[in-house]
Amino acid sequence: MRTRNILLVPLLAALCGCQPDTSNKPPEWQLADKTGCFQCHITGKNRLGPAWQSVSERYKNNPDAEAYLNNKIANGGGGAWISKEMPGYSEQLLTTANRKILVKYILSLQANSDI
Ligand code: HEC
Repeated sequence: MRTRNILLVPLLAALCGCQPDTSNKPPEWQLADKTGCFQCHITGKNRLGPAWQSVSERYKNNPDAEAYLNNKIANGGGGAWISKEMPGYSEQLLTTANRKILVKYILSLQANSDI
């Protein structure tokens, strides 16, 4: 009985679409998911934080965007989009190398990118 339930739960979840399959998402997406960014940033919508497609659009012609966004994610802050503050991500939460990967990923998104 026990074994059967263990097999049944993921099957039911898959059937009802409660847990979308994210295994086909790129590693950058997985990193953002693992770090918790999607609690506030969600695909194509402005949730608590701006949609990353909008972020990419805003900074696409800005040569300082990478440095600026790296700094913003490390230190947090508000005022660029809304008065709410984004929390800062210390090295323990997100290493500098991984932060750079996420910034490049965000800036690579197009308005119609499905993330
Ligand atoms: C608790 C909610 C929350 C979480 C979690 C969060 N953000 Fe944000 N984020 C915000 C808010 C709010 C803003 C808007 C800040 C502003 O208006 O200046 C924002 C803005 C941004 C911006 C645009 C900054 C600018 O100045 O234009 C980027 C890029 C960003 N977030 C990336 C990330 C990444 C990467 C993660 C995960 C490592 C993350 N966010 C996690 C709330 C969050």
